[in-house]
Amino acid sequence: GPRYPQVVVLFGATGDLARRKLLPGLYHLSSAGFIPGCRIIGVSLDEMDVEGFRQAARGALEEFSSRTLTEPDWEAFARSLDYVPLAAGAGALRAAVDRAEMSLGGESRRLHYLSVPPSAALSAVRLLGEAGLVERSRIVMEKPFGTDKASAVTLNARLHEVFAEEQIFRIDHFLGKEPAQNILAFRFANGLFEPIWNRNFIDHVQIDVPETLGLGKRSGFYEQTGAYRDMVVTHLFQILAFMAMEPPTALEPAPISEEKNKVFRSMLPIQPHDVVRGQYTGYRDEEGVDPESETETFIALKCFIDNWRWAGVPFFLRTGKRLAEGQRIISIAFREPPKSMFPAGSGVGAQGPDHLTFDLADASKMSLSFYGKRPGPGMRLDKLSLQFAMHDTGLIGDVLEAYERLILDAMRGDRTLFTTAEGIERLWEVSTHLLEAPPPVRLYAPGSWGPKSIHQLIAPHAWRLPF
Ligand code: BG6
Repeated sequence: GPRYPQVVVLFGATGDLARRKLLPGLYHLSSAGFIPGCRIIGVSLDEMDVEGFRQAARGALEEFSSRTLTEPDWEAFARSLDYVPLAAGAGALRAAVDRAEMSLGGESRRLHYLSVPPSAALSAVRLLGEAGLVERSRIVMEKPFGTDKASAVTLNARLHEVFAEEQIFRIDHFLGKEPAQNILAFRFANGLFEPIWNRNFIDHVQIDVPETLGLGKRSGFYEQTGAYRDMVVTHLFQILAFMAMEPPTALEPAPISEEKNKVFRSMLPIQPHDVVRGQYTGYRDEEGVDPESETETFIALKCFIDNWRWAGVPFFLRTGKRLAEGQRIISIAFREPPKSMFPAGSGVGAQGPDHLTFDLADASKMSLSFYGKRPGPGMRLDKLSLQFAMHDTGLIGDVLEAYERLILDAMRGDRTLFTTAEGIERLWEVSTHLLEAPPPVRLYAPGSWGPKSIHQLIAPHAWRLPF
């Protein structure tokens, strides 16, 4: 954990992310002793007092914490909470931070967590500058970072007027997931797979993250965001970079970021005709949604990394809300063998190509699927698989939830699993055509796998899901 006690200033403290992840995560980190002392100052547009915020936090923990809430732990946590409404201004915020630091005694650090939509990020940064809360501070910026190239460039420039780059942590919680880091271990700690990890052996890659979840109370945020900005330009492209990057010279922040940024530089601009945007029927009737909304709740696309390793290999990405299943998989399809000697009707190829699948479920899972002979006379083939599940290994360490892991990393100043200004700006740049001329949204039924045209997008291949 970090060496110094921490004062966390949590912007968006009553929002969905704070309730679901950040408050439960901070509760776990402080009650399990990962942080040597912690005070949390909630900030939001809501007019409420400290008691009101404590009650809201208690509600959030009861609903979303995976740990049992014991009274002594809760009381200690409740005492660490304070609240400042945004309208109270810089002076009030500064006073609250000073009080928190006094109560911690000794030297401490500040972590400003901006759990706010892109439209509110700049004013929060300005407020921190005005309040003089820059020294001994780090700032965590939630995704999406900006809404396009110009806004991301502006946001970076304004941020740099207040904070130095080393103080800025642009978070992407998918990188905090254990299985995402396991991609790096799998690729670079073994000799078996890296030699075939290229266009000579790999036919295509799928990164598929369907969700069953609807929008709940997030329609205000989501209406301005949509599936591409919410999931693709952030989480899915970051995972793509882990899959596609060259081996870094060391497992350290700068070399890893450099290799990821090279992948982003090599990405071809996303072409609108390679994109299917969808919206589930009923979305427009939801509270807070424009009855004529063109916001996509689903997106599938094809993209290319035009470099020595990947030229010509399509990467298919898909994600959306209210789909048939919740899954997070990466599937790598290998090329067909050069010649098939198996009789027609034997079943070879009938179940798609042989492939390797990473499951980004909370504990890593992986499978390698290939054709083998079905027992009996003649030659009938079936798809078989080798499976690995971290659960079954007994290797259960101190598993931290993705946000918990990343909050701790930010408190310690470890940037390995954070994104960079350059990378993000480049990802907006490859998105420009699409954002300027998005194809129309097509309706899909809640509980389906998205609009029908997703099959044309991937033909002659097929989506690996549903299994
Ligand atoms: C968030 C998105 O960043 O990631 C949500 O804003 C999405 O819309 C969520 O549901 C998915 O994260 P996870 O960890 O539940 O797969």
